[in-house]
Amino acid sequence: MAGMNFDLSSASLFVIGNPVHHSVSPQMHQAVIDELGLPLSYAALKIPAPDDLKLFFDAVREVGIRGLNVTVPYKEAVIPYLDRLDEAAARCGAVNTVVNQDGVLSGYNTDGLGLLKSLEEDLGLTVFAKNVLVIGAGGAARGIIDALCRAQVSSVVILNRTLSNAQTLQYDMEAHYKNPFYVGSTTFTRTSEEWQWLQNADIIIQTTSVGLAPDEDSCPVPSLEWVRPGQYCIDIIYKPLETAFLKQAKAQGATTLNGVGMLAGQGAAAFELFTGKPANYQLMKGVILHG
Ligand code: ATR
Repeated sequence: MAGMNFDLSSASLFVIGNPVHHSVSPQMHQAVIDELGLPLSYAALKIPAPDDLKLFFDAVREVGIRGLNVTVPYKEAVIPYLDRLDEAAARCGAVNTVVNQDGVLSGYNTDGLGLLKSLEEDLGLTVFAKNVLVIGAGGAARGIIDALCRAQVSSVVILNRTLSNAQTLQYDMEAHYKNPFYVGSTTFTRTSEEWQWLQNADIIIQTTSVGLAPDEDSCPVPSLEWVRPGQYCIDIIYKPLETAFLKQAKAQGATTLNGVGMLAGQGAAAFELFTGKPANYQLMKGVILHG
């Protein structure tokens, strides 16, 4: 964009997006930076249009910015400006973390790792050898399923409103991973195969935007009567803290978890890539919850 310039002198780490003013990443990362006493600072930067990315990345290289987090709507758009992608980012076609190592820009996707971190830290749950069912087949589901497969889950079921999107995701994942995949629809009934899969799942992960504020009464599945105690029901939404999906799952006796931990976990994984130092996950989670 003509006349556009980026003042990158104030910070060494940024989150970029549009809008970006409500992102908790600056406070979340700064809290860990301050705790460790590192000479870094983290700021939010709005990139008005995709055309501005070229100039921005020129500046990142020029000034030697250490790293970036990338949020909506640029997770795919930044890829042409990077020098390399790690496997998860390449498989997902989306980048949420960029690290500048001596002028070489590497793209990562830490969303799936963030969810695994939250399951371990918040529920003491590992996904190895578990039967996992994922509701949704969008970008978030893709990152999560990739991380689940790397962590060697036993099987993955994908239920989605549009079956063809679930099939595409299944096809892409089957090219890389050996565990069995099954796909189905979110408009199931008591007699359908999906009901069996839901009953058999150890862990159910809701990855769609259905139930997100202000649409808090919406639920992506027609019924949660299949839920039984002993199951783990996870929603990656963090506003509201308890979606209609989680409320109903809890009422049926499942152990539930919202998306706050995944947000903290993706940040913690990004911080470790930026600095090589372990991040205080609980501190990051506290910042999201209490500012
Ligand atoms: P993200 O990258 O955040 O995952 P996305 O790629 O737009 O977002 O994916 C959105 C997911 O939520 C998809 O699985 C989508 O289902 P479709 O593949 O059928 O579009 C699902 N989704 C979004 N709105 C929905 C709705 N109102 N009812 C059911 N599913 C919905």
